[in-house]
Amino acid sequence: MDNQRSLIDKELLLDQKGIVIWFTGLSGAGKSTLAFELEKRFFDQGFFSQVLDGDILRLGLCSDLGYSISDRKENIRRIAEVSKLFCNSGIITITAFISPTIEMRELARSIIGKERFLEIFISTPLSICEQRDTKGLYQKARQGEILNFTGISSEYEEPKKPFLSIDTSDISIENTVELILSKILPIVKYY
Ligand code: ADX
Repeated sequence: MDNQRSLIDKELLLDQKGIVIWFTGLSGAGKSTLAFELEKRFFDQGFFSQVLDGDILRLGLCSDLGYSISDRKENIRRIAEVSKLFCNSGIITITAFISPTIEMRELARSIIGKERFLEIFISTPLSICEQRDTKGLYQKARQGEILNFTGISSEYEEPKKPFLSIDTSDISIENTVELILSKILPIVKYY
């Protein structure tokens, strides 16, 4: 029966490979900004990508979850399952979640499959993220108004061997996106 199309059929139609670009790093490190810029650049170059962003997904799919380690793990498990569906449809999936522990990211890697999972560590240091404090959350965390805040009162474990590691405190968004594209375009091109 020829009633199903495989991932390869879909990838051929889209003329790209389905992968997951998994950003990890502290709040304010630059993950979401980079993810959306990257999505734009992929679009302009004729590639179909989709961002899954922590702040947005937590309003819907994950609105029942908080910031305990077990809730974060469930958050990441759900996002990994959604990413797998997108990726297995040939879509370049870009995720922007703190995903603070090695165990959570290994869970994501195992759900998605290691050959399609590219971990990018946005290694902007805590001092810079806190200085930026774009959402005012670090200040609240320091004052004890927000508990379990990553980097302040909840752990962040750095990746040991990420595909890429980028500190946005000393490189512009444009240059960072160029750098990422230069490493990823050869992987997503279907020839
Ligand atoms: S994760 O740890 O489960 O991966 P996720 O990326 O979805 O986190 O959400 C992080 C965002 O939630 C932060 O960028 C910030 O805006 C907000 N936030 C609210 N409370 C916290 C907290 N206690 N720790 C970290 N981020 C928080």
